[in-house]
Amino acid sequence: MTAPLTIAELKKLAQRRVPKMFFQYADSGSWTESTYQANEADFKKIKLRQRVLVDMSDRSLATTMVGQKAAMPVALAPTGLTGMQHADGEMLAARAAEEFGIPFTLSTMSICSIEDIASVTKQPFWFQLYVMKDRDFVLNLIQRAKAAKCSALVLTADLQILGQRHNDIRNGLSAPPKFTAKNLWQMATRPGWCMGMLKTKRRSFGNIIGHAKDISDMTTLSHWTHSQFDTKLSWSDVDWIKERWGGPLIIKGILDVEDAKAAVATGADAIIVSNHGGRQLDGAPSSISMLPYIVDAVGDKIEVHVDGGIRSGQDVLKAVALGAKGTFIGRPFLYGLGAMGKEGVTLALEIIRKELDISMALCGKRDIKTVDREIIAEL
Ligand code: FNR
Repeated sequence: MTAPLTIAELKKLAQRRVPKMFFQYADSGSWTESTYQANEADFKKIKLRQRVLVDMSDRSLATTMVGQKAAMPVALAPTGLTGMQHADGEMLAARAAEEFGIPFTLSTMSICSIEDIASVTKQPFWFQLYVMKDRDFVLNLIQRAKAAKCSALVLTADLQILGQRHNDIRNGLSAPPKFTAKNLWQMATRPGWCMGMLKTKRRSFGNIIGHAKDISDMTTLSHWTHSQFDTKLSWSDVDWIKERWGGPLIIKGILDVEDAKAAVATGADAIIVSNHGGRQLDGAPSSISMLPYIVDAVGDKIEVHVDGGIRSGQDVLKAVALGAKGTFIGRPFLYGLGAMGKEGVTLALEIIRKELDISMALCGKRDIKTVDREIIAEL
């Protein structure tokens, strides 16, 4: 059997290897999933401009994201419960990203902890922060990220309240997961996944257990995660975080020009144009359709990144052409991880790199840093 050649093929393989409740946790958007679908569909509408008979030798995809070197303009997005796609998933993905030379972002809601990732990587990684009501806990997370020498903080702004994903309710997926007879059956029919889970001790939220006040077991943890997202969070809290963090700050979840301007006013280093992979406001526009407006409004004042719906190197190329300095991928690396562990993450990145490299050449460009709107034939 040939190895998967596309992200879509990795997804199919992941579906066979990962218990349904966790596969669908990754492969779902909120409510009708219209924004989730638009994220991918809108990339397909953008047409690239084919150029011929130009020198396309000596190509380079190397760039920087918030001043830090990246082998290509792609970073791994923060994703919760990654260690449920594959045992020790965050550690495997972090190592794959490090070897590839791109940033890895650890989610607050990860299974492996900040310290776990620090113990298996040599290069600094990035940490994504959810601001919880318990500000002592938030401070504890920031201090731990600093101690682990994380080189950027990604502050997620679009999840003060949780969008509903029907599949998670139907599958009885809670945080942490409930082990019902149905779920146990799904796990038992995925022996490779089960073996991994039996071998590892990392099966709950590593950043929270033992660090948040009064969290001692699964029941208290479940209640805590449901009650801790802060609906009162506002722009004024960004200052508080910025002061305590003191390093490069990226605000994630910007989808509106006015919010982009507000982010600039905070003095943040970068924004990620994002709708949380279609998992929050169903009916919101796709990220890629909003990118040009946001770049036009603030692109000369702040570094603009984008995520949502990127499934190929051609998609990365389109995002960069429309003004993104970098892109983030969520599901593509999760599918790779679920399908084949660390090798699957590496394969997902290799697929995207090859597609990006060849497509850039076919647009008549040799250096990703020179790619601009000129290579777009039709928006
Ligand atoms: C996410 N995302 C996310 N974002 C974040 O800031 N913190 C988190 O913990 C999570 N968790 C999470 C879990 C899963 C399973 C998915 C799929 C996504 C959103 C993520 O960072 C990113 O914005 C999207 O995944 C990008 O869209 P694609 O690449 O998945 O289409």
